Amino acid sequence: CGIVGYAGNKTACGKPLEVCMQGLKRLEYRGYDSAGVALAAPGMQRVAVRKKSGRLSNLAADIKRIPVPDATVGIGHTRWATNGAPSDINSHPHTSEDGKIAIIHNGIIENAGTLRLDLQAEGYTFLSATDTEVAAKLLGKIANIVIDETGKPDLFEALRRMARMLTGAFTILAVDARQPDIVVGVRHDSPLVVGLGDGENFLGSDVAAFVAYTKEAMEVDQDKAVCISGDSVTVTDFDGNLVNNPKRFTIDWDASASDKGGWDSFMDKEIHEDPSAVRNTLIGRFDEDGEIKLDEVHIDAEAFRQIDKIIVVACGTASYAGMVAKYAIEHWVRIPVEIELAHEFRYRDPILTPRTLVVAISQSGETMDTLMALRHAREQGSRVLAICNTQGSTIPRESDAVLYTHAGPEIAVASTKAFVAQIVAAYLLGLYLAQVKCTLYRDEIHQILDQLKQMPEKIQWVLDHEAESINDAASKMINAKSFLFLGRHVGYPVAMEGALKLKEIAYTFTEGFAAGELKHGPIALVEEGEPVVVIVPSSRGRNVLHNKVISAIEEVKARGAFTIAVAEVGDPDAEKYADIVFWRPECPTLLSPLVDVVPLQLLALDMAELKGYDVDKPRNLAKSVTVE
Ligand code: G6P
Repeated sequence: CGIVGYAGNKTACGKPLEVCMQGLKRLEYRGYDSAGVALAAPGMQRVAVRKKSGRLSNLAADIKRIPVPDATVGIGHTRWATNGAPSDINSHPHTSEDGKIAIIHNGIIENAGTLRLDLQAEGYTFLSATDTEVAAKLLGKIANIVIDETGKPDLFEALRRMARMLTGAFTILAVDARQPDIVVGVRHDSPLVVGLGDGENFLGSDVAAFVAYTKEAMEVDQDKAVCISGDSVTVTDFDGNLVNNPKRFTIDWDASASDKGGWDSFMDKEIHEDPSAVRNTLIGRFDEDGEIKLDEVHIDAEAFRQIDKIIVVACGTASYAGMVAKYAIEHWVRIPVEIELAHEFRYRDPILTPRTLVVAISQSGETMDTLMALRHAREQGSRVLAICNTQGSTIPRESDAVLYTHAGPEIAVASTKAFVAQIVAAYLLGLYLAQVKCTLYRDEIHQILDQLKQMPEKIQWVLDHEAESINDAASKMINAKSFLFLGRHVGYPVAMEGALKLKEIAYTFTEGFAAGELKHGPIALVEEGEPVVVIVPSSRGRNVLHNKVISAIEEVKARGAFTIAVAEVGDPDAEKYADIVFWRPECPTLLSPLVDVVPLQLLALDMAELKGYDVDKPRNLAKSVTVE
């Protein structure tokens, strides 16, 4: 879900609606099935509410047909149905019995059933099947009891009281026609950030909601309530105790970075930003002598020296970035690196000690499974370092340290540029550990950094030279029922990521396997004409894996597969055995995932476009999954 709130100067105007609609547009990427807004201004008897199932354009058309009044405050919501099917009625905002209060909600209220029965017993009636309407009715009831010194309901206090009664996960924003100068919010296990403007303030589920209006932002911690007006922001806990000096930060994204800027899709644009994602993630992290400086990380060198095991927790694409990093970090630092899907981690009693470093990788910083894993790790006394792309999000805020990837906002649901940036950040962490633990010589680190610096150009080469053959492969394979992806060593997680991309946006059944596993099962799946994509390691330096992977191509080809190889420029065996080759420039094995993944991202994009699918918003998927 996406959430946006606006409180502006005291004159009613179209700005609250504009900010809500703009904000929702920028939050579209989070995935949704309906959208709505609520507005309030002095003199209104009830809040003005508009909501529609389907795309934001449905809501915009409805508002165009019957305009809404000018306002001073507003809230907007895109809903991803959890409780009650997508429909106009179930869409947010929901209102109190008297229509004076409207709320929007992200998350799940677990005790909504009991609360609903209690309210029904008191005579309240419900229009929708949602937990949010229960909260709206309850808030209306509490507001009528909590009267401030002017005789008006105290909405901020009422919302805090309600928050204390709710269980589950929630961010709730509310507006009240009787207090049309404020928007109030509470959060528990669900994201919320404040945008600080001049004569206006904003709330959002992430900074994308208001980055077009302000770059100044403020964090709202777990179990906190916030009240914004045009010229004030107040943060308290649920008991009303003031939080002094909440953490402020400046958003380093350009608002235009979250525009399509002439590209057909965000995914296309973002794949073409792979080079800058790598470049920007390296900037400022080491000096000319090759000394890595991660001062921002705030874990001292001595603590890093003590670390004897790393566990990476992540989901989806981020987990494959972690798998890639395992190969490099174990090689450079000589400590074990485990990679674990975040949702499996906490339920298997993992062995965690104060010397374990848990690395939580997340583009959004809001994935609930990853957040729960990091909380578990901290409870067990381990340190957690987040690798994250979103400032002000929950995962870095709850970690001991954070290393930001500077990929810029990633809007398309399928993650692309964040993946390469995550690998780079994890590599910087590995090299830093090697530096403090002296497991690599200074010259070696220097050399690896030099090679990393050349990667943006190499990625660019793939983007510039291989588009045509990738498109050719996509059109030849458009009717394929399924795809297999094979790779070894660092090529293995790349194969898994390639398979995931195609699954996510082209809805093709795919599996990624370790190439060595082929003969232990997957080969039984190979059929005449079925595409098999193989990540071929370099043949330089008598790399033994090269020949083994080439044999895998021969084996599937002998059984009729259509073979697509990703191989280093000039590899004669790839040329000889594969039906189509996507070439990539020469680079060290450990860095090769940064280039090898690029043609696979483009392949998925081309396949989905050829099939006519919405590549940015694939069916059933959300960009950040904020429920467990
Ligand atoms: C969702 C997205 C994936 C993403 C995963 C992890 O499932 O659809 O594209 O890889 O979440 O997201 P995160 O924001 O934690 O990296």
